[in-house]
Amino acid sequence: MKNNGLEDVIAAETRLSDVDGEAGRLVIRGVSLDLLVSHATFEDVAVLLLDGMLEQPLGATDLKTRLGEARADVFSHVVSADEALLNLPPVDAMRALIARLPDGEDLETALRLLAAPAVFLPAVLRLQKGATPVAPKPSLSQSADILAMLSGSLPTREQVAALDAYLVTISDHGLNASTFASRVVASTKAGLTSSVLAAISALKGPLHGGAPGPVLDMLDAIGTQGNAEPWLADALDRGERLMGFGHRIYRVRDPRADALKHALRPLVATGQVDLDRIRLAEAVEQAALAILRERKPDRPLDVNVEFYTALLLDALKFPREAFTGVFAIGRTVGWIAHAREQALEGRLIRPRSVYVGPLPQAA
Ligand code: CMC
Repeated sequence: MKNNGLEDVIAAETRLSDVDGEAGRLVIRGVSLDLLVSHATFEDVAVLLLDGMLEQPLGATDLKTRLGEARADVFSHVVSADEALLNLPPVDAMRALIARLPDGEDLETALRLLAAPAVFLPAVLRLQKGATPVAPKPSLSQSADILAMLSGSLPTREQVAALDAYLVTISDHGLNASTFASRVVASTKAGLTSSVLAAISALKGPLHGGAPGPVLDMLDAIGTQGNAEPWLADALDRGERLMGFGHRIYRVRDPRADALKHALRPLVATGQVDLDRIRLAEAVEQAALAILRERKPDRPLDVNVEFYTALLLDALKFPREAFTGVFAIGRTVGWIAHAREQALEGRLIRPRSVYVGPLPQAA
């Protein structure tokens, strides 16, 4: 029985992805993450996730061409970024620009939404530091173009591969908070733009997609390998949570963390990262795992996707305040696929509340 109405239990049938928290396994449309990340580009995973969800099937080459055109098209909206918008944090400024795009359920809307965060985030970041936005190059892949629009020069092969690995790794992840938000909005038939805007709003909180910036803040505050253990102990004594650790579903290591750690290797091997930071991060990870085991023996807490996201996006020269926006660039494809699945196969999502307040006094 389909349960996309969510009246009785909080669960929804989906053919898109499966998160096995006990085994530490993520499957995206029948393919395990470790296999997918080793060979797929962003365009490949977009074709995989959107297969059967839009009115017209697209192969990876078609999608690359259409997505390049969509990036060129949405770039014309960058001129509407005024001073008030540019004073917002990057993810909010990006969301405000997306909010100006038309709504709809069709392929054009989906492509525009896949392109929009990829174009708006680099443009906002450049405008915020007083630089001119760089126009997209439609012939590039999505990952190469994002990096070119960010830096103004063509990225290296290793950088493109690392960003593809990141975008593939975070493309979809079951019924997380932002995906749920996307499905709730889609279930009212409001349109894909509305679904994506709701999802970005849910994503930006520090308990979901807002954690990787604070991971770098934590590494900076710790400073040296020798300071890791006392710093982490003090943080836990103050009742703080260690950013980049713990997960609602995983009771073992988040498989996405290792996918990203692996994706960093070519950058490390070619000297395109700050090696001191990587060494510090590894020491902090070991110290955090040890202290979490000791302090929370009943709750398995391991490293999550955000820890290595922070290191990878930092190596690709995204500023830390933009990390949540980069997460949105990759997750938009999952949000769109879920929104379409909900609209095509589901019902209005309307969970019942359980009233626990006072009852009217009997007369
Ligand atoms: N550091 C220290 N203690 C923790 C942490 C942490 N990172 N995470 C959970 N705990 C403790 C928590 O204090 C609680 O202890 P106690 O029972 O003694 O009060 C216990 O573990 C259970 O916590 P919970 O709040 O019931 O766990 P949750 O499933 O609601 O939390 C979480 C999941 C991701 C919000 C949490 O682990 C957290 O806040 N982590 C830090 C922020 C972070 O890294 N977020 C990114 C998540 S991954 C991205 C994604 O997939 O969306």
